Amino acid sequence: MKQVENKVTLVTGGASGVGRELVLLLLREGARVVISDVNEAAGQTLATECGAGAVFVRHDVTQEADWQAAIATAQQHFGPLDILVNNAGILIPGNVETATLAQFQQLMQVNAASVFLGCHYGVAAMKERGGSIVNMASVSSWLPVENYLGYSASKAAVGAITRTTALYCRNNGLAIRVNSVHPDGIYTPMMQASAPGVPAKFLLYDPKTNPKGRATLPDKIAQVMLFLASDASSAISGAEIRADSAILGMGL
Ligand SMILES: NC(=O)c1ccc[n+]([C@@H]2O[C@H](COP(=O)([O-])OP(=O)(O)OC[C@H]3O[C@@H](n4cnc5c(N)ncnc54)[C@H](O)[C@@H]3O)[C@@H](O)[C@H]2O)c1
Repeated sequence: MKQVENKVTLVTGGASGVGRELVLLLLREGARVVISDVNEAAGQTLATECGAGAVFVRHDVTQEADWQAAIATAQQHFGPLDILVNNAGILIPGNVETATLAQFQQLMQVNAASVFLGCHYGVAAMKERGGSIVNMASVSSWLPVENYLGYSASKAAVGAITRTTALYCRNNGLAIRVNSVHPDGIYTPMMQASAPGVPAKFLLYDPKTNPKGRATLPDKIAQVMLFLASDASSAISGAEIRADSAILGMGL
């Protein structure tokens, strides 16, 4: 039995990195997938590779009208939305002295306001039939990284939006689960850009060969997101799931 057979799913930031891996995994597990992204070339190419089970929509997650259009696209192509994955995000490094207000606001807009909009329109779309919302946060929601001031603030907000939306759904009799995922590093184009030229073997965590590594492969994080999206996690809502190989407990 496939884990998300016939579930209608929308994945933001689905054209690259962990979002791309999740799109491919969801399709293998029987879902029909709307690939949402601002990167039209990569999104269209992926949708073509995926075939009839996927469609691409150009969707800027900071734009309210784009959310309405993306959810309408899911409905028109595949039917009512069952699963929403708020995965799109950006990283702009900066500490309390170097970061600018414009950078801080951009991070809050793309990484956090987008998740509010996704939950707002996702709950409206799922309230009759129920569903699952998975929000991409980061271990930096809690772990201080001095050069990730705005990024950390935006990912802490994702956790708060997740908890409050999950509670709202419970208190209002809605069968919608809402959870967040908090990885440490993921070996994607975002991470590669922050460590240019560093070979994967120095970044990837391996308990035997590279115990100080901080990255994991995107398909491992996609598996965690699939679990939260699927009915296998039906007892879990309002949870902030660490996918950080114990890094938070190490007191860095
Ligand atoms: N890579 C890591 O180390 C890491 C660690 C923890 C959490 N995350 C989070 O995982 C998520 C995915 O990141 P990734 O590492 O796969 O990065 P990535 O850069 O490979 O992919 C991010 C995708 O989001 C899209 N995107 C950016 N702004 C957008 C917007 N306004 N509207 C729609 N799409 C937009 C990009 O076009 C891209 O396709 C992000 O939320 C990121 O913060 C990443």
